Amino acid sequence: MPTLAIAVEDSLTDDVEALRRRCFPGATPATSVADEFDERSLQVTARVDGRVAASVRLTPGPRGPFTMWSGGRAQLADGDDVITIGRMIVDEQWRGYGLARLLCATGMIHATHLRFATVVAAIKENGAILNLMLRLGFVASGPRVVTHESIGTTIEVQPLVVASPLAHHDRWQAMVAAEVDALARRGVAIVGLDGSGCACAVAQRSVA
Ligand SMILES: CC(C)(COP(=O)(O)OP(=O)(O)OC[C@H]1O[C@@H](n2cnc3c(N)ncnc32)[C@H](O)[C@@H]1OP(=O)(O)O)[C@@H](O)C(=O)NCCC(=O)NCCS
Repeated sequence: MPTLAIAVEDSLTDDVEALRRRCFPGATPATSVADEFDERSLQVTARVDGRVAASVRLTPGPRGPFTMWSGGRAQLADGDDVITIGRMIVDEQWRGYGLARLLCATGMIHATHLRFATVVAAIKENGAILNLMLRLGFVASGPRVVTHESIGTTIEVQPLVVASPLAHHDRWQAMVAAEVDALARRGVAIVGLDGSGCACAVAQRSVA
């Protein structure tokens, strides 16, 4: 039975960067798809035998990615009590297993444990995971905006916000539990999550 190890990592490793390049083929074919936000970001990862299967990025504010990429036009909260979730990427061979749902939900729990007051995101209008974001409790924050990402991509996105993460904590825990159960039924075991559905026990750095 494959075992997926969930962890929170405080740097962008080469394999996560390589997965990001495979998942965002429209980006400028630069040597790197790392950006100026990775240095201060956490990567919630899922690995199988050390090989990365999926990752989600958490970026503490201020000057969050969507604020900066929209030139300040995104009507999004921004400050040192705001964290951005983004860069959801799943290796092709692991797609359809619920890993985006699992990592987003555990990422939201992690953001809550780090005491961020607000979680923001932005998603393409018809993006694959828009419904997932809505189920996580995100609501629209202002109108759609065009963003110019530092890796060269220009897209229109809908800014999203969860203004009271604590109010959603139980729901996220239930989502993590449901995904862990579903993976178990498909013969995939999960390690690295504590009883609250968080990967907090693993590398955690000060975001003060
Ligand atoms: C989008 C992506 C992260 C989904 O990963 P995944 O682990 O296969 O997704 P899950 O199995 O957790 O499913 C999550 C939701 O996405 C939906 N979804 C996944 N791939 C989809 C696709 N190609 N088209 C439409 N919906 C899709 C699923 O139906 C599911 O919806 P639901 O939760 O409402 O039932 C993955 O396909 C990927 O890495 N794509 C390239 C990078 C990208 O576009 N990232 C998202 C923007 S940051």
